Amino acid sequence: MGICLATTSGKGGTGKSTVSCGLALAFSKLNKSVLLVDMDEGLRCLDLLFGVESKVVFDLSDILNGTPISDGTYSLPQNPLISIIPAPAQPGNITAQALDALAQKVKTMYDVVIFDFPAGLDFSLYTAIGDDAQFLTICNPDPVSVRDAAAVCASLPQNKNSARLIINRFDAEYIKKKIYSNIDDIIDISGFRLIGIVPQNTDLMLLSVTHNIKQNSKAFKALYRISQRLLGNEVRLPKIKKI
Ligand SMILES: Nc1ncnc2c1ncn2[C@@H]1O[C@H](COP(=O)(O)OP(=O)(O)OP(=O)(O)O)[C@@H](O)[C@H]1O
Ligand SMILES: [Mg+2]
Repeated sequence: MGICLATTSGKGGTGKSTVSCGLALAFSKLNKSVLLVDMDEGLRCLDLLFGVESKVVFDLSDILNGTPISDGTYSLPQNPLISIIPAPAQPGNITAQALDALAQKVKTMYDVVIFDFPAGLDFSLYTAIGDDAQFLTICNPDPVSVRDAAAVCASLPQNKNSARLIINRFDAEYIKKKIYSNIDDIIDISGFRLIGIVPQNTDLMLLSVTHNIKQNSKAFKALYRISQRLLGNEVRLPKIKKI
């Protein structure tokens, strides 16, 4: 049975989809097969981030309505260990019951399944992906994003204890200059336990153009550390200025 992850955030645009793709690349380096399920109905993006948009014929709503999983699953030509199921082009097509059945099935097919949810506090589909799902709330270091992460923490319906925080778009200079709160304060305010910090990074910003992340970049190394922690390995956080 593969591990099941789900990205969340209160505020939009904190990097859920980018981090999901980055984690997929990191897991694949560990030789794990990964399925990314784009849950952002009407606003799909994973196909573009990984450059398979021209191949897409079927999407999640088709699979939930009976199309074979293999027909609506697109593996990356540049990395066959990673596959995606694109989100429905139109909103309102995902039912909890059908999602539940799909989630159970794909967890037996892949080492890692990542559900990339839209931002906000609508948790109506969260229970459908199973009690084993580990939620990763992606937050930026700015006060609005941190407060919105706290709102997610207060109302996440399941697995609150296993849910973790990823601070994304981190820049040590902003902390050093006391423009943003320090890491401990961000963790305290959010209410989550931290699992990793991903730096502000051009490779990640350009993912929709390059469809890859340089493995020697600080961003990839940060994502790689998080993927190892998610697999149960103890990996220390580097010194803040080295992130
Ligand atoms: N660590 C990073 N460094 C630089 N740019 C980043 C980083 N993470 C994300 N971005 C950029 O931030 C923007 C938002 O990222 P993304 O689409 O992944 O966020 P999201 O949380 O999935 O958004 P939405 O709420 O719309 O689903 C994108 O332009 C992306 O390139
Ligand atoms: Mg997204």
